[in-house]
Amino acid sequence: MGLNRRDLLRGAAAAGALGVAWPLSSRLTVAQAEEAAHQLGVRWDDGPFTLGVASGDPVADGVVLWTRLAPQPLAEEQPLPDTVQVDWTVAADRDFRRVVSSGSVAATAARGHSVHVPLRGLEPGLRYYYRFTALGRTSRTGRTRTAPDGRVTRVRFASANCQAFHDGFYAAHRGIAREDLDFVVHLGDYVYEHGKVGGNPVRDHEGPEVTTLPAYRRRHALYKGDPSLREAHAAHPWFLTWDDHEVVNDYSGTSPSLRARRDAAYQAWVEHMPVDAPNPLTPPVYKQRRWGNLLDLSILDLRQFRSAQNLPDGTILGAEQKAWLKQRVDQAGDAWHCWVNSIMLSQLARKGGGYYFTDQWDGFLAERKEVLSHVHEAGMRDLVVITGDWHSAFVDDIRPDFDNPDSPVIGTEFTAHSVASGAYSPEWNATNGPVMGAANPHLKYFEGNRYGYDVYEVNPRRWSTHMRVIGDRRDPRSPVSTLTTFHVDRGRAGSWEDRATADSPAQYRRRT
Ligand SMILES: [Fe+2]
Repeated sequence: MGLNRRDLLRGAAAAGALGVAWPLSSRLTVAQAEEAAHQLGVRWDDGPFTLGVASGDPVADGVVLWTRLAPQPLAEEQPLPDTVQVDWTVAADRDFRRVVSSGSVAATAARGHSVHVPLRGLEPGLRYYYRFTALGRTSRTGRTRTAPDGRVTRVRFASANCQAFHDGFYAAHRGIAREDLDFVVHLGDYVYEHGKVGGNPVRDHEGPEVTTLPAYRRRHALYKGDPSLREAHAAHPWFLTWDDHEVVNDYSGTSPSLRARRDAAYQAWVEHMPVDAPNPLTPPVYKQRRWGNLLDLSILDLRQFRSAQNLPDGTILGAEQKAWLKQRVDQAGDAWHCWVNSIMLSQLARKGGGYYFTDQWDGFLAERKEVLSHVHEAGMRDLVVITGDWHSAFVDDIRPDFDNPDSPVIGTEFTAHSVASGAYSPEWNATNGPVMGAANPHLKYFEGNRYGYDVYEVNPRRWSTHMRVIGDRRDPRSPVSTLTTFHVDRGRAGSWEDRATADSPAQYRRRT
């Protein structure tokens, strides 16, 4: 296995040497920072396309193409002219013999020399290849796909979440890159603002946490230094939502002190993601997308518009998004309805009262009940919610009133393992899995000792969630296996575990 960035950083922390081991440390020159990153397994692409390429937000006639010019990924300012012309080409084949579209766009210093091409005029349901040229160099080739139109009999997609760079390698993204998928969904915690390693705060460029635009840019550039993450972006189009750590832990609101930091973080996020956001300070994260007549995605933004938690009239969605979501429920047609949800929707009560975390929907009880009652009353069927954030896997029945066992099951929530971010200890999981199960009758499954991603295989009759896990996050090439699979049958609320894997390791499993 050799080099291992988690243990290397923890060792440096124990020795009081994080200032030289952490690539974003304020003590280092750009060359030293690059060398420190190298020690942690970072390998960027050739300049100026060091951060690779990506595509996102696929619709029936287009997709957003992305790259960013960063010849010195960890430098505060790039050694580039203010404006650089970047050419892009899209083809129907990998060798670019059948070019279908091309153009040129200006990458400016004001936007971190990022490039976003909101491409239209493509054909539905087809594969495309794309690449960029600038400063006499050509980027790697990315592969993407448009959404199909009309009748669709199968969709396969994956979700990823919580990828703390300092906690491990991205073998999960290596797995995602190799999967046969239509698209990928990221559920948030793409970067972490803090540099705590083994509980030790790392003094960053300006302190233990990043707060400014140049610092958030460097953070994203470091994360994109993991080759597996770039591979997964180049292999599939991605939909993205976000959670708190793209800005700061458990944040809400827009106080003046938070506002400036939030603006910096939002802009850096837009500059590094394949999203079309004309105003990078207010990215349009929540949206509806379709995969033909089979799958209807409601991508939720549970950060930008929320109030503080635990208020009687608190909101996690904000008034506008809540009205939009309820309208989506009212207009729901005959399809699978998937809510792309960053933080756990289902209740997770503690034995004896209270909740484990009220930064998730448990801190917004009235709004959860309102929205889920609306789903029930509107008669919407076939709701599947996919969630990240917990760094552990859960399967839950969704009920409008989780405290009332007579409240009907109206859907299923799958909470996925994290890509790399640390979970609780095996001891904690072994003790608390059964405790959480006993206190939450809607909780069907809990597994917290592993890392990975979920693959969803959906056809008109069945939704199957495959929990893919890696062997060891200390190994960048760790092999992927399937821990277990849960199914939901169309027209029937509630999930069931595949018999072939129903005896796989887990710390809680409800036997019915
Ligand atoms: Fe996380």
